[in-house]
Formats: sequence, structure tokens, C-alpha cells
Amino acid sequence: MKWTIGKGILWIWATVAVAAMTLAAAQELPEGPGKKLLEDKCTACHDVSLVTEKRASREGWAETVQMMKLSGAELNEAETTTLVDYLVANLGPAGAAPAAAGGLPAGEGKQIVENSCTQCHGVDYVTDAHYSKDQWTEVVVRMKLSGAPVEDSQVPVLVDYLTRNFGPTQ
Ligand code: HEC
Ligand code: HEC
Repeated sequence: MKWTIGKGILWIWATVAVAAMTLAAAQELPEGPGKKLLEDKCTACHDVSLVTEKRASREGWAETVQMMKLSGAELNEAETTTLVDYLVANLGPAGAAPAAAGGLPAGEGKQIVENSCTQCHGVDYVTDAHYSKDQWTEVVVRMKLSGAPVEDSQVPVLVDYLTRNFGPTQ
């Protein structure tokens, strides 16, 4: 009995956490006609997070929007241009992140941060933080839950790297 209740609570917790994450991702996007189109035209079949988690070039976004139109998204030419412009401006290629990531200290783990921790936000989220080993472990688990592509086997290396370079300030 206890087990059933525990599982139920865990499930609710996970649902709430995912919902909050999705909301945060969508709210970070600036207001504008592009955001309105995104909310009106791109959420009928799947969650908006499928869109906000993606990073792509202009060609990439144009292709995605075209595919979505083929599968049923209703956008006229002008709306397509507005939306693609908006997506490129706000969810452009992760190119900006690697430039900033150039400043990451060398070491085993750097590669993981570059590959896995700059897909959704700037590397500054990582480099501005000062956490203990336990706190970094908690952050990495949370990021994995929200979709960071980190293998379980990479976690110890990553946490060591983060703690060594971005540990607590005295
Ligand atoms: C008529 C239904 C429908 C609408 C409306 C729709 N999509 Fe999709 N979308 C899909 C389906 C089906 C998939 C593929 C299944 C999946 O990945 O869940 C998908 C997947 C995606 C993906 C992930 C795959 C990829 O190419 O990276 C993105 C991004 C995406 N859609 C963006 C959009 C955008 C932007 C809009 C608004 C212009 C939109 N979608 C509107 C049906 C739709
Ligand atoms: C799938 C998207 C995604 C990926 C990939 C991702 N993050 Fe995040 N991260 C988020 C979101 C959304 C937030 C803001 C919400 C929050 O704080 O949990 C965030 C916030 C953060 C924060 C600031 C909040 C805090 O708790 O201090 C840190 C630090 C962080 N991420 C580190 C990382 C690290 C390290 C990685 C690589 C293992 C990573 N992120 C990969 C989505 C992601």
C-alpha cells in the first residue's frame, strides 16, 4: 500500500516538474507576433517544448516549419516568414554557445559540458554557478531529467569537472 502511494506522489511530482520546466522554457521567449504564432499554431499536436528545446539554423527552421505545414500546421506565407524569423532569432543554432564555451577550463569533462550543457541555455548558466559536489550532482540529475544528453557513466566525470572548476566560493 505504502509503495502505491509513494509511486503516485512521485508521478505527480514528475508531472509538475516537467510542466514547470516547459512553462519556463516558453516564458523565456520574448513577446511578439512570432510568439503568438508559436502558441496558436504549434501546440495543437505536441507540446511547445518540442519547439523551444530545438536549436537550428534558418534552413533548419524553415524545413521544420515546412514539414509541420505538410502535417497540418496552418500558416500562410507571411505568417511563415514571421515565425521562421522569430525561431531563428530566439532558438538559433547553438553556435553562440560554443564561442562562449571556448573559455571553459581544460580537463576531462569539458567536452561533456560543451556537447550536453549548451543545448538549452548558455554555458554561463554553468560557469556562473558555484556549487558543492552534492549540489552539482543534484543539478546534473535535474538537467538529465529535463533532457540533457548525459550518459550515466559520464556523470561522475562531469560532476568532478564541475566541482573542481565551479565549486563553492569561500
Ligand atoms: C498537425 C500536427 C502538428 C502541428 C500543428 C505542428 N506539429 Fe510539429 N510535429 C508534429 C509531429 C507528428 C511531429 C513528430 C512526432 C514527434 O516528434 O513527437 C512533430 C515534431 C516537431 C518537432 C521535433 C522534430 C524536429 O524537426 O526537430 C519540432 C521542432 C516541431 N514539431 C515544430 C513545430 C512547429 C514550429 C510548429 C508550428 C509551425 C508545429 N511543430 C506544429 C505535428 C505537428
Ligand atoms: C534539455 C535542456 C537543458 C539541457 C540540455 C541542460 N539544461 Fe541546465 N537548465 C535547463 C532549464 C530549463 C533551466 C532553468 C530551470 C531550472 O533551473 O531547472 C536550466 C538551468 C540550469 C542551471 C541554473 C539553475 C541551477 O539550478 O543552478 C544550471 C547550473 C544548469 N542548468 C546546468 C546544466 C548542466 C551542467 C547541464 C549539462 C549536464 C545542463 N544544464 C543542460 C535546461 C537544460
